[in-house]
Amino acid sequence: ALVSLRQLLDHAAEYSYGLPAFNVNNLEQMRAIMEAADKVDAPVIVQASAGARKYAGAPFLRHLILAAIEEFPHIPVVMHQDHGTSPDVCQRSIQLGFSSVMMDGSLKSDGKSPADYDYNVDVTRTVVNFAHACGVSVEGEIGCLGSLETGMAGEEDGVGAEGVLDHSQLLTDPEEAAQFVKDTGVDALAIAIGTSHGAYKFSKKPTGDVLRIDRIKEIHARIPNTHLVMHGSSSVPQEWLKIINEFGGDLGETYGVPVEEIVEGIKHGVRKVNIDTDLRLASTGAVRRFLAQHPAEFDPRKFLKVSTDAMRDLCIARYEAFGSAGQA
Ligand code: G3H
Ligand code: 13P
Ligand code: NA
Ligand code: ZN
Repeated sequence: ALVSLRQLLDHAAEYSYGLPAFNVNNLEQMRAIMEAADKVDAPVIVQASAGARKYAGAPFLRHLILAAIEEFPHIPVVMHQDHGTSPDVCQRSIQLGFSSVMMDGSLKSDGKSPADYDYNVDVTRTVVNFAHACGVSVEGEIGCLGSLETGMAGEEDGVGAEGVLDHSQLLTDPEEAAQFVKDTGVDALAIAIGTSHGAYKFSKKPTGDVLRIDRIKEIHARIPNTHLVMHGSSSVPQEWLKIINEFGGDLGETYGVPVEEIVEGIKHGVRKVNIDTDLRLASTGAVRRFLAQHPAEFDPRKFLKVSTDAMRDLCIARYEAFGSAGQA
């Protein structure tokens, strides 16, 4: 059944668990997520980015999610629009049937330049007004995602600020977060606490805390009834990096957010955990290995099947680690 983000996150808060929100672009990702959720009895959040709409086309994406709901009627599914760059984009998604939208007003409508507080409040409040009138949930964002190491947003293109950001932009201010929730009425709030989008998050193997758990605690203490969202939450599995490079790939040394730290964040109010890169890595690794080991194979269903299985196993691991297994 299609449900709103608010419904799922209220339940997650009541029972103190977190939900992975996986990005979806194609049939294989959609199937992997649903097979995983079905196996461990987890509720589902799938989200579509602007890049996904460009790749698959909005109607195909919409029907992919509707097909998942039809095939797995016993699993609650949130159809969420990731990183909306304007109220218009969010309105279009609501018209298409999305049950949740993100208005990312931390950046201007180009999706690159950091926006000021008043702009963010203005666009986000506009979206909250029309979305809530339709029973659709809204996620906002305060603070800009980027590496505390370099100040860079982390992705060459796609979602993220351009240029170098300073620490005051890269860490969400608890006072400002509280004011923002008061000014906008968002259901969920994405915060900047040390993560960035993409595969290149940390250049050295994390030894201690990469997340600013202290900051999560401070924010959660100020706004205990707002569900916190962590973007850039891929863990960049070293085993998949190794497989990709072993079978013809060329990825540099890089590390993601350790799963144990995400679990720590969940203990302090993080409810929605955005993951895209990890599914990309698992999929690419599985396909590279399969094609290298089966050079005479040319039926795409064969290599797409191993891609689906690899993504499914990753989803299962996250549902179990975040405590969402058994909650559907
Ligand atoms: O937040 C960013 C997601 O990883 C989506 O990336 O714009 O390449 O689809 P994309
Ligand atoms: P990753 O790039 O870490 O998977 O983050 C995805 C994300 O935040 C989507 O909004
Ligand atoms: Na989002
Ligand atoms: Zn994101």
